[in-house]
Order: sequence, then C-alpha cells, then structure tokens
Amino acid sequence: MNDFNNEERIMATEYTSEDADIETSLRPRVFDDYIGQEKVKENLKIYIQAAVSRGESLDHVLLYGPPGLGKTTLAGIIANEMNVNLRVTSGPAIEKQGDLAALLTNLNEGDVLFVDEIHRLHRSVEEVLYPAMEDNALDIIIGKGPSARSIRLDLPKFTLVGATTRAGQLSAPLRDRFGVVMRLELYTPEELSRIVSRSAAILGIGIDSEGALQIAKCSRGTPRIANRILKRARDFAQVVGNGVIDREAACLALKRMEIDELGLDATDRRLLTTMIKSYNGGPVGLETISAAIGEEAVTIEDVYEPYLMQIGFLGRTPRGRIVTPQAYEHLGIEYKRN
Ligand code: ADE
Repeated sequence: MNDFNNEERIMATEYTSEDADIETSLRPRVFDDYIGQEKVKENLKIYIQAAVSRGESLDHVLLYGPPGLGKTTLAGIIANEMNVNLRVTSGPAIEKQGDLAALLTNLNEGDVLFVDEIHRLHRSVEEVLYPAMEDNALDIIIGKGPSARSIRLDLPKFTLVGATTRAGQLSAPLRDRFGVVMRLELYTPEELSRIVSRSAAILGIGIDSEGALQIAKCSRGTPRIANRILKRARDFAQVVGNGVIDREAACLALKRMEIDELGLDATDRRLLTTMIKSYNGGPVGLETISAAIGEEAVTIEDVYEPYLMQIGFLGRTPRGRIVTPQAYEHLGIEYKRN
C-alpha cells in the first residue's frame, strides 16, 4: 500500500532489522540510564522495591502509548532490576493455546514475560492467560466430547508485561488483570537531546549539543526516530562535513531527508495538505483520509496522529479529524474559516 522511500522509512516508527542491532546496544539496562518518562519510572521503582522486599514477583504491568517510546526497554529494565530473566514475544506470534502453554511452562520463578502488541492476541489464547495471570495455573483439557475433563497445572509465579499502542482495543477481562497500567508519553526535545547524546557516546559518534538538540527537535518525541536520524546525520557529517555532527550537519541531514524543523516528514505534510485541499481542512473521517493518502488507518492513528495532535496541528471532533489554523500557517496555506 505504501511505497516507502528513504525519508518515510526514517520517520516510520515500526521496528526494522537495522533498529534491532542499534536498539540492543543502546538500550539502557537500569532505571538510572533511562531518560524521561519520570512518573512511570518513579512509580515502577517503588513497586519493584516493594515487591523485592516482600520476596514476591511484581504485579502484571500494562504499558501503552505510541510506538518507539521504549516499552521493550522498560520490560528489560524491570527484569533486570527484579534480577530475573526476560522472555520476549508478541501477540501475533502466539498463534495457538499450545504456544502460550509452552512459553508459560518454560518460565522460571519470578521471570518477566514481555508480550508486545498484546491487543493482537487471539481470544482463545487470551483465555489461557486469564488463569495464568490470576492463579498461576494452566488449565488443560484432556480428551474430547462427554469424557473431556480439565486438569490444572501449577505455573511458576511470573510477571506479565504487556505492551500496546492501543489500550482501548484490549478486552476488558484482560485489561482488568493488570495490577499496574501505565501510559508512556512522547519525549520532550530536551529529553531526546540527552538520549541522542548518550547514543552517540555509545556508538562513538562525535556530536555537539546543538547538533543533538536539532535532531531531538525533529524526532517527533520518539527515541527510535531520534536514534535513526542520528545514524544518518553521522553519514552526512562524515562525507560532507568534518565528521562531527554540529547544527549544520544535522540540518543538512534533516533537509536531505525532507524532515522539516518540526519533524514533519513528507507523509505528515501530505496528510495535512490532502485534508486541506480535498476536504477543506475537515471534519473528515479516518477511513476517508486513509483512502485519500494510501496509508492504513491504523498507521495513521498510531504513527502520524499522536504527534500531529501533540503539536496542535490536528484535532478530533465527533464528526472527524480537523486541521488547525497552526498547521495552515506552518504549511504556508491561507486559513479560511468554514
Ligand atoms: N534509548 C531509547 N530510549 C531511551 C531512553 N528513554 N533513555 C535512554 N536511552 C534510550
């Protein structure tokens, strides 16, 4: 549906194989190295400290918010701080009840099981999860028909850390079984600037504070995007500049990637201009926008909208999405009130 060009790939928040190696090396392992999300961090620290001092496992944790904000990283830190293993899987990867049963029976006492995109778990698989989360038990049906009976196996105590971009799509019974529900917020430019500087230091990339802030301002509040732009800016600094990412090198890289000073990429601008030119700035429904720009509705909701709404360029009304006067001004289009 989407003919990704390089610029769009830079701004996409979904996880790619290139991210896999950088994210692993850049991922903070302890809370002290994790920048931002202060409220989440402070509360989690207390819950972990309390659980550890009681000698218990941590209650199940649900993390939600836009992609690329560090949910997997937080799960890793939780496991590390609890001194237990982390097992990582995702909703769509668990196809059958037996897949989940195998995962659960292989856990050690206290382990953290991280399930990314937990809203995509099959309903039948979810049903296996309920007794596991509540009673540390696995109910297995033996036989078929009238002679079928259920036996209950004990599971080790474990902590489920679920991650989702859309808490609203979780079924109520599943959501209710999480003792801790936390929302991750987009990062501020200052926080992202610290993240970029930290990443540069780990990767051995020279960068000054203005270069880091420039990248941070254009990363839509998302560390995954900031780290990706950092790598491309290094390429420009190396080939066109003096090897160090200063403001000039960062600006050149961003310009070449068609990312503007607010971090909007070609797709963001296309979304806004299509809404303005074809629908008079809205209100226009999500499905209509999706068809008009050739992006899936879920991608628009998860990837593009959170940032456009945060910077006040897009609003939601009961009748659909609207473009705000600030967005017109940014795009240099005259605003006409309907
Ligand atoms: N890398 C990605 N997210 C991070 C964060 N929140 N803190 C430090 N490094 C990060």
